[in-house]
Order: sequence, then C-alpha cells, then structure tokens
Amino acid sequence: MGSQRRVAVIGGSGARFAAVYGSDGPGLSDTPWGPPSAAVRDLRIADHSVLFLARHGEPHAIAPHRVNYRANIHALHASGATHVIALNTVGGISAEAVPGSLWLPGQIIDYTSGRESSFHDGTVWPLQHQEFAEPYDRPLRELLMLAAEQAGIEMVSGGVYGCTQGPRLETAAEIRRMQRDGCDLVGMTGMPEAALARELGMAYASISMVVNPAAGLSAEAITLEAILREADHCMTRCTAVLARALPLLDQPPG
Ligand code: HPA
Repeated sequence: MGSQRRVAVIGGSGARFAAVYGSDGPGLSDTPWGPPSAAVRDLRIADHSVLFLARHGEPHAIAPHRVNYRANIHALHASGATHVIALNTVGGISAEAVPGSLWLPGQIIDYTSGRESSFHDGTVWPLQHQEFAEPYDRPLRELLMLAAEQAGIEMVSGGVYGCTQGPRLETAAEIRRMQRDGCDLVGMTGMPEAALARELGMAYASISMVVNPAAGLSAEAITLEAILREADHCMTRCTAVLARALPLLDQPPG
C-alpha cells in the first residue's frame, strides 16, 4: 500500500463510532500534557484503518472548555496521525447555514478564553509564533469536497467558524455580534484544536454539521433533544463522506 498518510478522526459521538465500526482495543491513553479525552482507537471504516478519538470522552461527559486539547492532539500525533478530520456540531448563523447542512469552513474566529492553546507557550516547549492565516489545510479540504461530490452529498466549502467558550449557548446579542464579525457558524470545539494540529504539522480540516439555528435566530428555543436528533441525521452523511475520503487519502500523495 505504501501510503504515507495516517488519518485520524476526532468525533463528538465516539460511542456510536466505536459501536458501529468496532475497534482493535484502546491505544495511547497518556501524553506529557496529561491524558487525552479517551484512548486513541483504531477503527475500520469502508475497509480502511483510521485513528479515532472521542473529543468529549467515552462516555460523552467532558465539557468543551475542559477538553484537554493539547493531550488529544499530542496523542493523535504520537499515534502516527498526519491528517486530522474533525467533526463538529455547530449552530447556523448565516442564512445558508440551515439545520442539516454540512460545511467545510475555511476560516476561524476564536472567542474562547482561558484554554491551553499552544504547545509552544514558552513553558514546556520554547515560544513560537505559528503562522495560521489559513487555519484549515487546503488540500485536505479539496479532497473532502471531492469525496462529498463522489458520495452525492451536499457540503458547503468555505465559511467562518466562530468558536465560543461554552458550555452555555450564546445570547442573541452575542450572535448578532458574531454575524457582524462575519461568522457563518458557531461552535465550541474548533479552537484551540485546529491551531494545535498546525503546531504539530498535521493537516487539519473540520466537517461542521449545522444542528440548530444560532441563538435568537429562530422563534423556538434551542433544545438538546433537537440538537441530538439533527446531529444523528448529519452523522450518517458525514460517515458517507469519510467512507469516500479514506480511499482517496490512502492513495500516495501526487
Ligand atoms: N452554539 C455553540 N455551539 C453549538 C451550537 C450553538 O448554537 N450548536 C451546536 N454546537
């Protein structure tokens, strides 16, 4: 096979993934930055091996602001990952970001605070200012768009992901500000994950699943039940995109 690529998926619904695809048993479960949210698993999707990490732990219990993003990204890197496909549920801000739509954002605005957001912060590793103008890896995004096309699944390429601190949802005024800032999507887990992956030289992209209209944009209040229901619908299509993407990623880079 001779592939130099090793793909990792970071997901929010680990139990479901592991249950559906089985696993070779737990892998790496500790790092110099502390333990990751869960052990890195080795799953098979569409007959391709893929590393998998449940961002919120197994069972799903770690809040977005308490996730040890450094440990998670370090664990995937130490397990050999070269490419990371992150799955994120988001609220929709722009008119096109309707519930049920899949996005492959191109930009990020970071509204989080107090998260450990760098390996190179001058404490354990020396200070470094990472170039990050394009937070997501363009070739990986292009490959994922191709995979979606091949699978006949609609996915929007581009858009700005605004990352809030959580775990509470936003106020209507916060969403109006994010709208003025140019955000299309709002989620709680995109950062510092993307920046940390860049620091370790891994190609990173996010498949963002819109599961609700952002706060204040719909007459109805946002409920967890509605979010989970929509996430479930989106995951089926996400998995179909992954199943097409993995064979493409297994071909030697050309
Ligand atoms: N805001 C922030 N994060 C989210 C949302 C939201 O509306 N929906 C799913 N994740």
